[in-house]
Amino acid sequence: MDHFLYRDGALFAEDVAVAEIAAAVGTPFYVYSTATLLRHFRLFDEALAGMDHLVCYAMKANSNQAVLQTLAQAGAGMDVVSAGEYLRAKAAGVPGERIVFSGVGKTAAEIRLALEGGIRQFNVESEPEMVVLDATARSLGVVAPITIRVNPDVDAKTHAKIATGKSENKFGIPIARAREVYRMAAGMPGLDVVGIDVHIGSQLTDLAPFEQAYHKVAELTEALRADGHNIRRLDLGGGLGIPYERSNAAPPLPTDYGAMVKRTLGHLGCEIEIEPGRLIAGNAGLMVSEVIYVKSGEGRDFLILDGAMNDLIRPAMYDAWHDIVPVIEPEAGGEQAPIDIVGPVCESGDTFAKQRMMPPLVAGDLVAFRSAGAYGAVMSSEYNSRALIPEVMVKDDQFAVIRPRPTFDEMINRDTIPPWL
Ligand code: LLP
Repeated sequence: MDHFLYRDGALFAEDVAVAEIAAAVGTPFYVYSTATLLRHFRLFDEALAGMDHLVCYAMKANSNQAVLQTLAQAGAGMDVVSAGEYLRAKAAGVPGERIVFSGVGKTAAEIRLALEGGIRQFNVESEPEMVVLDATARSLGVVAPITIRVNPDVDAKTHAKIATGKSENKFGIPIARAREVYRMAAGMPGLDVVGIDVHIGSQLTDLAPFEQAYHKVAELTEALRADGHNIRRLDLGGGLGIPYERSNAAPPLPTDYGAMVKRTLGHLGCEIEIEPGRLIAGNAGLMVSEVIYVKSGEGRDFLILDGAMNDLIRPAMYDAWHDIVPVIEPEAGGEQAPIDIVGPVCESGDTFAKQRMMPPLVAGDLVAFRSAGAYGAVMSSEYNSRALIPEVMVKDDQFAVIRPRPTFDEMINRDTIPPWL
């Protein structure tokens, strides 16, 4: 559920008309709903009630400071994957003890930054990383809390580019070798092994792969405890999917996910962490764009928008579907025709949708891409020298620009000229 609904024939973001924001900031832009962000965070928090737990928002999904502060003030922890994300989380007021650090390639400098600034735990992904972490912690005279990310070799049944839990993926250590690697970690004085981490992929629309992975984690917990490790924390990753295409069956809800976690892992008495990104931010955002031209091609028509693949890359990169709706509510049961929806960038890949059924639209009309709050703005670029588009946040009947559109001068003047020119 989100807070982007038609009201009196026009699309609203909470109590603000989307067209009013467009008039104020220009198109294209992203707009986020505070109520939706908080609702999704609380759904997860409540789903795990009764277990000691922390919801660590995977901020790679949307790391705008206003989004982070909104969630941090509601009690969220953060899952970070780089020095930049760590510093963004700290800047948003998240204390170190609520930050977990994931990722296969943490550098020694990133590790040092987090050890000095405070960290809940590192989710370690390899033996060489463990060696660097141990040495860095000892050089600072501290002990680094760690989990080890295990790769459970389960098929997450999602897009290949976002599946992470199969043995051929670069993530984690093979679960079959876990006991040996835990033994090695326990021998390192700079490390305190607190638990196990697992993350099998993103946009999962079925609980079965999670459940398979979590059963393996439960077995491993018992085996490691028998080996003498004090396993007291389980980080279960993120990955629960969202309904991108509203006409399809809805994926499981956080409540269903929470019940499954209790069923598979509750008996172990561990503290539970989860790292949802998409489910918190995805349906809390729209990308709004204006129709520039309607072009008639050979056998097909094109709706050419002012938004492009550089602003929202998911359709080009993952063949992702986003519902695209007119900002003026179309007549129920009114005429619709198939059309290709494209941006102005000079590649055929700059196509948001092919032969999408749409009501008649003309130049100047606004359309909104739903479910664009996660992996939207954060993955944008200035390709074709298109300035990054602004981000706006709504709360009830108020809206504020939370990242302005840079001017062309700002964009150009970031480059510097070598002395020989
Ligand atoms: N934890 C770890 C270790 C992750 O790698 C990820 C996502 C998450 C949590 C959050 O997963 P979520 O709950 O958002 O599914 N750019 C792609 C998605 C990449 C996901 C990468 N890792 C997309 O637009 O679909």
